[in-house]
This record gives sequence, C-alpha cells and structure tokens, in this order.
Amino acid sequence: MIIAYVLEENVAVRLLKTKLRDAPDTPVEKAASDIRGRRESYWDGYYAKASSAPVVPSQFAAFIAGEFPDADLIVDIGCGNGRDSFFFADLGYSVIGIDASASAIQRCRQQNKAAKFINTSIDAAMHESVLNQSRLEHANVLAYSRFFLHAIDHVEEGQFWDFAKHLCAHPGDILALEFRNEDDSLRLKETGLHYRRYPNHDEVVARAQQRGFVLRYEAQGRGFAKYKNDDAVVSRLIFENDPH
Ligand SMILES: C[S@@+](CC[C@H](N)C(=O)[O-])C[C@H]1O[C@@H](n2cnc3c(N)ncnc32)[C@H](O)[C@@H]1O
Repeated sequence: MIIAYVLEENVAVRLLKTKLRDAPDTPVEKAASDIRGRRESYWDGYYAKASSAPVVPSQFAAFIAGEFPDADLIVDIGCGNGRDSFFFADLGYSVIGIDASASAIQRCRQQNKAAKFINTSIDAAMHESVLNQSRLEHANVLAYSRFFLHAIDHVEEGQFWDFAKHLCAHPGDILALEFRNEDDSLRLKETGLHYRRYPNHDEVVARAQQRGFVLRYEAQGRGFAKYKNDDAVVSRLIFENDPH
C-alpha cells in the first residue's frame, strides 16, 4: 500500500516535471534560450552573406594537419562556413562538419566537395546516424573544434564534452581545441557584437581531464589566430582519449 502510494507520487512528480518542461521556461532558462535564439540568428545572418567570413583555412587547421597526418576521420565541431573542413578534405582526410547554422551548412553543401556536413546543434549531435556510422567505419577519430567553445554557453559546454567523449571512444583518439580565453575578453574584435564567453584555460583543461582526456599539448597567447586587427588571445589544447 505504501509502495503504491510512493509510486503514484513519483508518477505525479514525473508528470509535473513533464508539464513544467513543456510550459514556458523559468526566467533563467528563458533567458538562456532567448540568447541561444539570438545567437543562432546572428550566425545564420553572418554565414548567409558570402563576404562575411574568411574562406582561407585557419592557422590552427594547418597546425593540426601537420601534427596528425594519419588521422582517419576529422569531425569539425562548429564548422561555420567549412573553411577548415574543406582544407582537411582537400588533404585527403575523411571529414564531417557539424554546425547549428542552417545557412552555414547550406553553403557548405553547395560547394559539393568531399566533406560531409550536418546541420545540428551540439545537444543533438550524438544522435546523428551519419556521424555514428562514420565513426564506426574509421579506425580513429580526431574531434576538431575551433572558436566554438567560446561561442557556446556553460550548459552547451557540458553537451560538448559528452559529444567529444562519444566521438573519441577509441584509445588514442584526439580532441583538438582552439578558443578565445579569458585574457581576450577586453580586446579589439573584427566581427560584430554577438555572444561570446571567455573560458579560463586551466578550467577547460581540468574539465577535459575529468572526462578522461589526457593533455598532450597546450599553448596560449597571441599570434595564433590573427585576423586583421583582431589578434586574439587563444588557448590551444590537444588531448588524447584515455578510456581507462
Ligand atoms: C566563431 S564560429 C567558428 C566557425 C569555424 N570553426 C571557424 O573557425 O571559422 C562559431 C560557430 O559555432 C556555431 N554554433 C554556435 N552554437 C552552436 C551550437 N549550440 N551547436 C552547434 N553549432 C553552434 C555557429 O553557428 C558558428 O558557425
């Protein structure tokens, strides 16, 4: 009898939670989703204009290609206009670029190159069947993410770590990150005002280590990602997956 009561109460709590989830968000959740919505429209508008984003590969992409010539599959997380995805694909890597911006992915697909592109936000990325199939078909994975970590909020960063761990399932799989760090927050930018967060270098390292990634390389400073007047203070981190 007591058990039945407890079960019923649990069901009631669950129903209440479902109802709450379907109802408008709490002020904090609502603010977060408003920010995400505005951010998505920003990137959609940015990538819809042909002239907006640089099309040459980033310095980071060249660095990573030099370090990992034998990478089998590169997943470019937050690929934007695909400039680094195309660079990797031209070098012969298998490449999948993912991005939440529909206009960015549409433009990438129009280029009809060897790389594949998926329009998904980070929270849903691990359920993408093309990606999961490709992961199984390749011996090793290099998860690559440039200027993405500072473009997402804390909740999404949690989803990013889950996804990175999902991708880098084999021992020795690589996670390569470049992002604007906290020392960049007050510096001049070339691109217009939009959502940016400035993660702390050591805190990102700690969060990766908590997930079983082993730090193989770290650097931070200016000169790594200069774009016109914006010589960003960035962190470069390379981790290797340790499944134990
Ligand atoms: C600063 S751009 C970086 C683009 C590219 N990696 C580069 O270096 O040129 C950040 C990208 O992250 C994407 N993005 C932002 N939030 C996202 C999310 N939650 N899920 C997937 N992509 C997201 C944006 O659409 C944008 O293309």
